[in-house]
Amino acid sequence: MDKIAAIKSFTKESLAADLSGHGYDHARRVVTNAEMIMKSVAGVDQEVVLAAAYLHDTIDDKVVSDVAVATRKVQRLLEMNDFSQEQITMILAIIQNMSFSRSLEQKVQLSREGQIVQDADRLDALGAIGIMRTAYFGGSHGHPLHDPEILPIDYQNKADYRQGSTVINHFYEKLLKIADTMHTTPAKAEARRRKAFMEDFLTEFFAEWGSEEA
Ligand code: ADP
Ligand code: NI
Repeated sequence: MDKIAAIKSFTKESLAADLSGHGYDHARRVVTNAEMIMKSVAGVDQEVVLAAAYLHDTIDDKVVSDVAVATRKVQRLLEMNDFSQEQITMILAIIQNMSFSRSLEQKVQLSREGQIVQDADRLDALGAIGIMRTAYFGGSHGHPLHDPEILPIDYQNKADYRQGSTVINHFYEKLLKIADTMHTTPAKAEARRRKAFMEDFLTEFFAEWGSEEA
C-alpha cells in the first residue's frame, strides 16, 4: 500500500462515526479540492498536502475526545509510513493551525502547503455542500434553524464559537467571511461562485420566512 493509501484508510476508520458533517466524505472532498488547486500551484510537497487534507479533522476537538492522544496516533501513523521528520512536522503544523476556530485564538502563518489545505477545507464549507453541512451540524447540536431575535455573534474565542447560535447566523458568523480569505487563485474563483450561490439561497430563505407580524 502506498503512503497516501495508508493515510486514506486511517482517515476512513477515524471519521466513520462522525455525525457532524466531518465524516470521511468531507475529507475526500477536501482532497479533491486540494488536487484541483495544486494543478495551478507549483513547487509544493504534494505528499504533505494530500496527507494533511485527509488527516485535518482526525485531531479536531469536534471529532475526537482527546486531541493529544489523537495527535500522537497521527504522528505514529506518519512515521510508520515513511514520511520524513520534516514532512511530519509540516503536516502536524498544518492540521493544528488551519481551522477557523484556531484562528480565533491565534493566527499562525501557514506554509504554502497549509494554505492549499485550508483553502480546500474552506471551499467545502461553501456552496450547496456548505449549506447542507451547516444545517446538519446545527441539527446535531440542537441549534434553532433561524430566530430573528438572535443576532449573529462576532466570536472572539473558540469556547464561545463552539456554543454557536442559529443555523442561519452561522452563515454570517463564519461562512460568508471565509469566502474572502482564500489564498490561492483557483480557490478564490471557486469561493466567489459558491458565495454567490449562498447569498442567493439566503435571499430566498428570508423571502420564504416572511415577516413575524403575518
Ligand atoms: P474549522 O474546522 O475551520 O474550525 P468548524 O469545524 O468550526 O471549522 O466548521 C466546519 C463546518 O461545520 C462549518 O463549515 C459548518 O458547516 C459546520 N459548523 C461548525 N460550527 C457550526 C455552527 N455553530 N452552526 C452550524 N454549523 C457549524
Ligand atoms: Ni474540515
